[in-house]
Amino acid sequence: MTKCIGIIGGGQLGRMLALSGYPLGLKFRILDGSPEAPAGHVSPLVSGPLDQLETLDRFADGLECATFEFENVPLKAIEHLSNHLPVHPGCLALEKSQDRWVEKEFFRSLLIPTAPFAPVTTHEGLQQATLEIGLPAILKTRRFGYDGKGQVRLNMPSDVSQGWDALGSQPLILEGLVPFDRELSQVSVRSTKGEIRHYPLVENFHRKGILHKTIAPAPGIAPNDPLEHQSRQAMEKVMEALDYVGVLAIEWFQVGASLVANEMAPRVHNTGHWTMDGAKTSQFENHIRAILGWPLGSTEANHHTVMLNLIGSHRPPEDWLAIPGVRLHLYGKSPRQGRKLGHVNVLGNTAMEALSRSETLLDWLSE
Ligand SMILES: Nc1ncnc2c1ncn2[C@@H]1O[C@H](COP(=O)(O)OP(=O)(O)OP(=O)(O)O)[C@@H](O)[C@H]1O
Ligand SMILES: [Mg+2]
Repeated sequence: MTKCIGIIGGGQLGRMLALSGYPLGLKFRILDGSPEAPAGHVSPLVSGPLDQLETLDRFADGLECATFEFENVPLKAIEHLSNHLPVHPGCLALEKSQDRWVEKEFFRSLLIPTAPFAPVTTHEGLQQATLEIGLPAILKTRRFGYDGKGQVRLNMPSDVSQGWDALGSQPLILEGLVPFDRELSQVSVRSTKGEIRHYPLVENFHRKGILHKTIAPAPGIAPNDPLEHQSRQAMEKVMEALDYVGVLAIEWFQVGASLVANEMAPRVHNTGHWTMDGAKTSQFENHIRAILGWPLGSTEANHHTVMLNLIGSHRPPEDWLAIPGVRLHLYGKSPRQGRKLGHVNVLGNTAMEALSRSETLLDWLSE
């Protein structure tokens, strides 16, 4: 019988997960609060509140297993589903990544370096934390942040009150500003059988707090580079501590010859989108293989790739498709400022070729 996999969250990540699983002979069912969710264009969609048991049971009926595409799923929903079917990654990974303070404590417990940090619940507590951590620093909400939302940079003591007024109604964390040389990320996958594979480190560039560009593999990382070794070792510690199943991403700051963890994401990740065209197996397919306990596919790069996010609005498909080496992925979303609508993977046989091709396309990006 055809196996059906449930995906909680019907955004672009859920859509690309489903699209990658159909060639493997699978079926999918999506759960989302909105009946318009983009993954619902490609798979049957159950829509309803994620905290309602009736919705969850309707979604879960007859599924082989379930996964999620965003980390702000109510923990209770995953706990409920886990009583009826395997859900990967599980509650522990979700719990550790839903709250920035819990996550940083978790990194610290595994001796993975982070920015200095302190939890903040009061205005006075914030003032105290700025003295301990120093300025500049970044004040962030502990929960529900994404694409740089829920963050205020504090440069001098007079910024403290403004930061508190902007965010103070919820639990916060203050983080020291890391003077990084560049941002890298590690995307890796672990299966129910414990098999682990790592994609190469990639370099990421943000604009207005949103991922703008990924260069894969990251320039200047030699085979067996100590940075890659550090990254993989930390990833394996995290995966094993969580008995993790599926794709996991860790965002790194590179400071000199070492890596400082920014955050992790217990799901397929925007900085892994290059794998759809630039790696032997995409992160989406590998996530599906992992949760089913199937053999993982090779994570080697077979091209140099520059991934550009299409944000806010984009040129028509035929413009992109006319350019050699460009692979287009649109998510079926309507244009809106700051919204991720798609991405392109610009391929080259050398890093120089991919980079110079992508340079000529930068004018085409609206944001
Ligand atoms: N402590 C820090 N020191 C220096 N830069 C930081 C720090 N925290 C965040 N940033 C910058 O802000 C960006 C977004 O921060 P972060 O990853 O915490 O937010 P997010 O909303 O979860 O983002 P995303 O959803 O894009 O991953 C980082 O990629 C980095 O460029
Ligand atoms: Mg981030």
